[in-house]
Amino acid sequence: MWIEGRVIEKRDWNDKLFSLKISVDIGHFTAGQFIKLSQVVDDKRIGRAYSLVNPPGSDYIEVLAVAVEEGLLSPNLQELKVGDTIDVATKATGFMTLDELPKEEHRGKHLWFLATGTAVGPFISMMDTSEPWLSYEKVVLVYGVRKIEDLAYLEHLKQYEASYPEQFKLVLSVTREELRGALSTRIPDAIISGELEAKVGLKLSPEISQVMICGNPEMITQSQQVLQDRGLVKNLRRAPGQVTVERYW
Ligand SMILES: Cc1cc2nc3c(=O)[nH]c(=O)nc-3n(C[C@H](O)[C@H](O)[C@H](O)COP(=O)(O)OP(=O)(O)OC[C@H]3O[C@@H](n4cnc5c(N)ncnc54)[C@H](O)[C@@H]3O)c2cc1C
Ligand SMILES: NC(=O)c1ccc[n+]([C@@H]2O[C@H](COP(=O)([O-])OP(=O)(O)OC[C@H]3O[C@@H](n4cnc5c(N)ncnc54)[C@H](OP(=O)(O)O)[C@@H]3O)[C@@H](O)[C@H]2O)c1
Repeated sequence: MWIEGRVIEKRDWNDKLFSLKISVDIGHFTAGQFIKLSQVVDDKRIGRAYSLVNPPGSDYIEVLAVAVEEGLLSPNLQELKVGDTIDVATKATGFMTLDELPKEEHRGKHLWFLATGTAVGPFISMMDTSEPWLSYEKVVLVYGVRKIEDLAYLEHLKQYEASYPEQFKLVLSVTREELRGALSTRIPDAIISGELEAKVGLKLSPEISQVMICGNPEMITQSQQVLQDRGLVKNLRRAPGQVTVERYW
């Protein structure tokens, strides 16, 4: 069930937000899936899910995490240093993957990723594969955070802009500070007002859009509601829709 991983790199993005590269072999996984990390704390095993940021085929795993105040595991993960060990589940799992999206006439042309906080991670994993770029005419990442210092992997995200200038659009939403060029409203509000579509230059509609939403559960519920008002409904295996979600808590 658990194998020992060793931290080979740690990056502190701010005093709460950090990423860990861990040397471990978890075998094959699909971009968008998560792995469980675990420790025994006070004789009790605590395991928590973390989305993989690295693409399949890497000889390490990478996670982006926030230390939740009074959380049982995440503050301990933040304390880890290069060379420390951490228990890792033997297999990644999860259904927020591109191969779960509708195919053929239900596929849509535009793929939208809506993320808050650490949930940008699984979308990076997907964008580091060829799949979104081969399957969709446009790929949009909307990345919402409270403050500028909460923006992780910005350099990496800008590389997609350089590599796919016609195909990729990055929209940042920073809600508690001013950042030039970024939205200053929450993601669902920016959909309601039309500001998001105006910024991207694309419409959200059931005929052409596929939307994956990940992160803060209330953001997901509210985004799903505003999208439903536009006719975009949840994707089910038995009934293809346009919206696929993963809640982090
Ligand atoms: C499928 C899945 C993927 C996940 N991927 C990630 C990831 O990539 N990075 C990550 O940091 N977390 C991720 N999480 C959340 C993670 O599993 C833990 O819940 C989180 O690290 C808190 O664990 P804890 O033991 O420290 O806190 P606990 O003692 O379990 O306290 C949990 C409480 O902390 C809050 N909380 C949990 N996660 C977050 C969060 N990310 N941001 C804000 N508040 C939170 C909630 O209020 C929750 O009730 C994911 C969760 C799921 C279900
Ligand atoms: N103490 C600290 O300094 C500190 C700093 C950062 C994080 N944290 C902790 O880390 C955890 C995660 O914080 P986070 O900043 O990564 O995630 P977060 O609280 O989910 O915020 C990320 C983004 O989601 C937005 N959002 C929140 N609720 C929403 C909703 N209902 N609908 C739409 N958008 C919503 C936020 O907007 P708003 O700004 O409008 O809420 C913000 O833009 C929390 O437990 C937090 O307490 C602590």
